[in-house]
Amino acid sequence: MGRAFVYVILGGGVAAGYAALEFAKRGVSPGELCIISEEPVAPYERPALSKGYLLPEVPARLPSFHTCVGANEERLTPKWYKEHGIELVLGTRVKSADVKRKTLLTATGETISYKILIIATGARALRLEEFGVTGSDAENVCYLRDLADANRLVDVMQSCTGGNAVVIGGGYIGMECAASLVINKINVTMVFPEAQFMARLFTPKIASFYEQYYVSKGVKFVKGTVLSSFEIDSNKKVTAVILRDGSRLPADMVVVGIGIRPNTTLFEGQLTLEKGGIKANGRLQASYESVYAVGDVATFPVKLIRENRRLEHVDSARKSARHAVAAIMDPEKTGEFDYLPFFYSRVFALSWQFYGDNVGEVIHFGDFTGGKFGAYWVHKGHLVGSFLEGGTKEEYETIANATRLQPVIDDLAMLETQGLGFALAV
Ligand code: FDA
Ligand code: NAD
Repeated sequence: MGRAFVYVILGGGVAAGYAALEFAKRGVSPGELCIISEEPVAPYERPALSKGYLLPEVPARLPSFHTCVGANEERLTPKWYKEHGIELVLGTRVKSADVKRKTLLTATGETISYKILIIATGARALRLEEFGVTGSDAENVCYLRDLADANRLVDVMQSCTGGNAVVIGGGYIGMECAASLVINKINVTMVFPEAQFMARLFTPKIASFYEQYYVSKGVKFVKGTVLSSFEIDSNKKVTAVILRDGSRLPADMVVVGIGIRPNTTLFEGQLTLEKGGIKANGRLQASYESVYAVGDVATFPVKLIRENRRLEHVDSARKSARHAVAAIMDPEKTGEFDYLPFFYSRVFALSWQFYGDNVGEVIHFGDFTGGKFGAYWVHKGHLVGSFLEGGTKEEYETIANATRLQPVIDDLAMLETQGLGFALAV
């Protein structure tokens, strides 16, 4: 049993949705393109799951956040795919791939063949068991990667109003879920191994602003330690979290956000991997010419940084996917992907954006007492990264443009004095 397509997108997440849009804009004939996804729904904007989806009032629900609403593009509902003759093979896991034969084998036993494959398998959440802690399959322990996880989190949250949640991990999931839990009237304690949260990106000064804000919302922090075990009752529910320093935190629920692993397994031994992802060139083409890799699973050259990077952010997924399709459909006119890394988050009434790379010396500017503030990163005499909290659309565009230009910085004190004004003048 089998089907054949010209183009197959493996994975039905953010990158898949944006790739489909680009294919449709450039013109694919009915029956040429299919998306295979383990998820039972058409591609959606994953960032909604830790934000609008968790709101107690008027929460976001599909179909409102199908791709590609996140970039003010058309909303691709199942009806849209049908109208464009794009096959959605949903609820279907691919269990093996043969890049030489150009075939994929699904868990239901179907062989799907292609001429060109776009790997958009994203990543999976790391589990505590991978760090030697057991019990995270208890019904009130939540991870958050897909819609099923989000539904479970909503159910558990609703049963815990007024209770205690322990959030394990001080990264993006930890920070955004802690805010959502507070909004749902749950008492939150965050536990993470670093001395500050968002250690991968925030400077201590930036982190300190957000931490104080969280404290003002009632969040407690336990830093510099990790969980060692769960206390679990006879109903298989976690009742407390025991930390490595011996302390015990009573818990009605637990949210775990301890990082991800790209879904590369199907291609190990067949394609070149780098930095945990599938290595792609500036056209997002993998080491086998009929295969492309995009989104969280791809490690590609970031020209501006002069390094191959694997990025775990939605803007990168959207743009790498569109670029790969451009490279496939119009190879003559499509150059190398020239990407400016862009990360953002929204929590409570706060909102920040970051562009570029966070290496080198840091210059902070603005009002860290609750107004607009930011930071620049200066590396080898050039501006390479910019962060801004509380900016307007125009101000975010301004720091993005300035960062892309990488202007020479020979006077750090001047940069500090000018603050946001520096980017406006570039
Ligand atoms: P994505 O994970 O979206 O999709 C992968 C797809 O492949 C899934 O549908 C999966 O089921 C499928 N798949 C994998 N293996 C398969 C197999 N063998 N067979 C079939 N299907 C398979 N970023 C940001 O910049 N700002 C933000 O605010 C947020 N917020 C945010 C919230 C939450 C809760 C998460 C989990 C993530 C974010 N992100 C984010 C990150 C962002 O969502 C992420 O970078 C993109 O979703 C990556 O898109 P991909 O398409 O690469 O993977
Ligand atoms: P992360 O990499 O942002 O943070 C992981 C955190 O886990 C670390 O900061 C650390 O504090 C903690 N940690 C690591 N090992 C641990 C251990 N053994 N025990 C306890 N804590 C440990 O990952 P995440 O927060 O899980 O986010 C998952 C993915 O979702 C990432 O790719 C992220 O980019 C994406 N995401 C992005 C956004 C956004 O961009 N706004 C929002 C949500 C999720």
